[in-house]
Amino acid sequence: NETGCLSIIVLGASGDLAKKKTFPALFNLYRQGFLQSNEVHIFGYARTKISDDELRNRIRGYLTESADAKEGVSEFLQLVKYVSGTYDEPEGFQALDAAIAEHEISTNTAEGTSRRLFYLALPPSVYPPVCTMIKAHCMNKSDLGGWTRIVVEKPFGKDLESSEELSTQIGSLFDEPQIYRIDHYLGKELVQNLLVLRFANRMFVPLWNRDHIDNVQIVFREDFGTDGRGGYFNEYGIIRDIIQNHLLQVLCLVAMEKPVSLKPEHIRDEKVKVLQSFLPIEDDEVVLGQYEGYTDDPTVPDNSNTPTFATMVLRLHNGRWEGVPFIMKAGKALNSKKAEIRIQFKDVPGDIFRSKKQGRNEFVIRLQPSEAMYMKLTVKQPGLEMQTVQSELDLSYTQRYQATVIPEAYERLILDTIRGDQQHFVRRDELKVAWEIFTPLLHRIDNGELKPIPYKAGSRGPEEADALLERAGYVQTHGY
Ligand code: BG6
Repeated sequence: NETGCLSIIVLGASGDLAKKKTFPALFNLYRQGFLQSNEVHIFGYARTKISDDELRNRIRGYLTESADAKEGVSEFLQLVKYVSGTYDEPEGFQALDAAIAEHEISTNTAEGTSRRLFYLALPPSVYPPVCTMIKAHCMNKSDLGGWTRIVVEKPFGKDLESSEELSTQIGSLFDEPQIYRIDHYLGKELVQNLLVLRFANRMFVPLWNRDHIDNVQIVFREDFGTDGRGGYFNEYGIIRDIIQNHLLQVLCLVAMEKPVSLKPEHIRDEKVKVLQSFLPIEDDEVVLGQYEGYTDDPTVPDNSNTPTFATMVLRLHNGRWEGVPFIMKAGKALNSKKAEIRIQFKDVPGDIFRSKKQGRNEFVIRLQPSEAMYMKLTVKQPGLEMQTVQSELDLSYTQRYQATVIPEAYERLILDTIRGDQQHFVRRDELKVAWEIFTPLLHRIDNGELKPIPYKAGSRGPEEADALLERAGYVQTHGY
């Protein structure tokens, strides 16, 4: 199944996602030898009428600008061809099929099969017509086997109903093992490390529960605003853009039970169980914000109620986590750029150092920037006095793994789609429960029942969020 001719078709080839993420990831895979030039062809497809060379030049411009791109760009670009066509009429897709077939015939597939990977770097509104056209005109027809797979990107709908409608449409055309729903957070090194950390370290096994953990925070901060994406963002807002997918996926890996094995279905079964255990989100455990200047973007209406910041408490109703608040925090145009998980442990019972209380143990997993894990511990302040101080056990990836290049999330995930590994992709039932959790809250925001509090761009976000954190039990700890 893993040999033979491979055609990667990037639909929406002239768009931003293709330029910034898909083609660079493909180039990196090529550079590392994962895409063999005697087997692979890459097809760009979009509406614009341009030549192969024009597309190549666009991609080249981006690849050579980006810091780590070096040699090999021209060889890689020789693998790229372009076909133009609309997203809902047969002609373009028939031409695309003919171009793929030509490549398949010219490639030696006697031993192997033909594999067709369709990457939809497109807005979800065109997923149904595009999938219909692929199904009708572009499926792998090799007698020797092989496959056809499609890769789709969020937003998968706007709420439970629209997401289910989209799932049903795509599901009527493709089987679940053919559909790869990307959440690129699942491709990040430290997110992939969560399973190992939790289930390969004896010291965490007895501690990872409500008896020892006081609260969990999952945080995403960006130090820039919507940057030209206001039109898209205003339709969705920070909860749909970040929390309902990226942060929730991270939360699942922090909270789920140990899977029976590492098989993708076993892992995804456990994620679904966690998602099914959430209690409804309470309005008084939500703080929304909107940065000042957000509506200056001409594509954003002046009276927009869309949150660019949200902090909320999610609560699980199960044996492991009852009573432990999971605090989700995400914001744009804040004072820093960071994504991290903070696991705060309970106070030590009968603290004999109480006069010198230093704060709690905290285990922090920093997803980005500068991947790291550190554990805040209370130790004796070195010296003659018996004083305590909070210090850190620190594993910083750039220091520890100097020789290792950490792969980009998209690189890893595209390789998984070629290999047929769905572990790091969102299953349909997972997506459905994820929408069930947030849809009531999202509808209250859409109706204007909940309003975002203005905050200054470049600030920490609304102060009300800190008060919510405190109410949820988070205690600010101070290092040395
Ligand atoms: C995307 C969101 O999914 O993730 C963007 O649509 C956000 O709004 C981006 O900026 C963040 O990804 P990363 O990998 O830079 O944290």
